[in-house]
Amino acid sequence: MDINVKITVLGAGAIGSLWAVALKQQQHDVQVWTRSSNPDYSVNYQALNDNPQPFLFTANNIEHLSQSDLLLVTVKSFQVEMALAPIINHIPASCIIVIMHNGIGSQEIIKQQLPTHDTLYATTSQAALKSEGLLRHTGNGQTFIGAMQTNTPRDFSSIAELLDQALTPCKWHTDIMQPLWQKLAINCAINPLTAINQCSNGELAQAQYQSQLKQICNEVALVMTAEGYQTTAQALYKQVLMVTHATANNYSSMNRDVFYQRQTEIDYITGYLIRRAKQYDIAVPANQQLWQRIKSMESSYHA
Ligand code: PAF
Repeated sequence: MDINVKITVLGAGAIGSLWAVALKQQQHDVQVWTRSSNPDYSVNYQALNDNPQPFLFTANNIEHLSQSDLLLVTVKSFQVEMALAPIINHIPASCIIVIMHNGIGSQEIIKQQLPTHDTLYATTSQAALKSEGLLRHTGNGQTFIGAMQTNTPRDFSSIAELLDQALTPCKWHTDIMQPLWQKLAINCAINPLTAINQCSNGELAQAQYQSQLKQICNEVALVMTAEGYQTTAQALYKQVLMVTHATANNYSSMNRDVFYQRQTEIDYITGYLIRRAKQYDIAVPANQQLWQRIKSMESSYHA
């Protein structure tokens, strides 16, 4: 990879904006692709323990996109197909595509939509919140990246290095489904509970939530084991508690989605777990119940 890489970040949410700023700080040529057609995108960025600083990006520029070396897709799981559709013909064949979202399940869509592109998947535990033009980096965490579908015998680990320079730590993973499952487990535990109870991640450490968290972890561990990933309910529960502690003051993405009455990623988080569990005939009643609660909350919006 060149020193200055031409990058398009598709999706101007908290995580997309965080990576856009971090990559720009490394002197890469970054544009942001947003839902509007505005030619620029600005954000006030507040790094961990720092004061806010303004950042201005080129936005929605077809020429920039058609010359991009890297397309970082940070829209929500259920938006991937719709967000890519209008720009697909402008993505150069040589452009490496990195998909980064909570949950699992967009892989099949991507295979059909971008059959000839090199596509990588990433999962991040970096935490950020964005509201009214202020983007706050609220917690450092590990990012993993790995290949999902490659059409060229290329070494993509330089992409991991590029992301690592922007927001460390980022590591190449030879079986990206493993960290994707690991993150899915954390999201299955934290996201629905914080959304239903409208509480912060840290509040899940309270005694009242422990038996539910353990039950969720038990069920996820059974499905992960059936999928061939070595884990235990205890190990997952410990990791969940670590994340609730590390992101104690954060509101999870699903908490925010429910708060603002937006569609959640439940079908790609708990929904994905339920679909895989069905495949192995594993009962997942705690997760099933959470999925149902979130679905009925979504359907009651604007009621
Ligand atoms: O979705 C989220 O909010 C995050 O993935 C996590 C790890 C639960 C922290 O808030």
